[in-house]
Amino acid sequence: MQRELAQRLDISLKDDAKTFKRLKFNFKKNKHQDHTELLDQAGSDFKYSDCKDEFWNPEKFSLLYGTPLWDQASKSERVLLNQLYWVGYYSQIISAEIATIYFNQTAAAGLYGIEDFRLVCETLDFESMQERAHIEAFKIVSEEVEKEVFGKRIFTYPMRPYFSETMIFQNTNFFKRLWKRFQLQSYGLLSSSNAFIACQYLSVRGLRTLNGKIVQHQLSEFYEQADDKENAPIPSKISYYHFMDESYHFNSSNIIGTDLLKMLKKPTAFEKRIATMGIEGTLKDHSHFTSTVNGIFWYEPATFNAIYKVLRSRIFKLNHQDAIHMMELCFCQENQGMNESFKTHQIALESYKNYLQEIDYLNDAAKDGGKMRSTSIESHLKSNKKALNSFKRKIYA
Ligand SMILES: [Fe+2]
Ligand SMILES: [Fe+2]
Repeated sequence: MQRELAQRLDISLKDDAKTFKRLKFNFKKNKHQDHTELLDQAGSDFKYSDCKDEFWNPEKFSLLYGTPLWDQASKSERVLLNQLYWVGYYSQIISAEIATIYFNQTAAAGLYGIEDFRLVCETLDFESMQERAHIEAFKIVSEEVEKEVFGKRIFTYPMRPYFSETMIFQNTNFFKRLWKRFQLQSYGLLSSSNAFIACQYLSVRGLRTLNGKIVQHQLSEFYEQADDKENAPIPSKISYYHFMDESYHFNSSNIIGTDLLKMLKKPTAFEKRIATMGIEGTLKDHSHFTSTVNGIFWYEPATFNAIYKVLRSRIFKLNHQDAIHMMELCFCQENQGMNESFKTHQIALESYKNYLQEIDYLNDAAKDGGKMRSTSIESHLKSNKKALNSFKRKIYA
């Protein structure tokens, strides 16, 4: 860096002209194509009654698709299962994006201490603004569906702080939640005051986005391929607009989390440890899969209560015995839906492994997929059987 006056650090974002240019181009394109207004409009135009008889996603993106419930469902029940996939999927995305907004801000704070990093910070600020619009649109649709269909919450939740478990259905308890909260708050503090950890947050974000990219691309195609786009169901438009914004977020994660990271001085042992923990934590969070929402890596037993409510609702009208029996068929016996969800998990694992190869400081176990590797159909069935037995006892009590 050539400067007239001495600076605290001898690096500047402008030292790497190629990366600076790529980042600038990505930011400019994202601002130009920004879907915030369209998403706001979609949210305010949404009326469940206008699209309650239509699919909102490609058919295979339906709640419990390919399971015995799906096989036995009538046409109208399948439509609802398709819509509930949307509600469940984007309820999870809301939680992830609440955390993203905060960590975008702490990362920007951590990076602003380096010369000429204004462009990175403004990119992150702009993306946070977009995430707020995404959250609002997802929330309007999801809450209205649950209010109309069930009269109560199933997958949705009131707005929550960033330090809650990111996975809304997680293998957790009071102490694990406290520990997670402590980890997330500490990570926020560290990333806001350390450029390496700030930059590395974007590697974690890129990893998490990879999973989103696999599914959201397919969800967005429903609108993209619709013959009558104007009258397509609003939730399908939201999926499309969201994916358009997110493709730029994925680019910026890559540029900041890999190319910019290389500009910074080599990490200390402490920085490496924190960065590794961030990656290992993501691999652990994604170490389960569920047939309920193919492509979201929830801990399936944590979804039992929600599914039980759906089966007992006025739509499926199952009595207690039949609802439990259906859950045994869907969750405790191998079926097509389970196999397809597992397949998505394995596709994600492979793409994560490719992505992680580029990260120098990471240990081999994490590069090889960490905790995600221990998942199998057998382990999934075993944990579901045990959990369903205790769920049955609890629900009787
Ligand atoms: Fe988003
Ligand atoms: Fe995003």
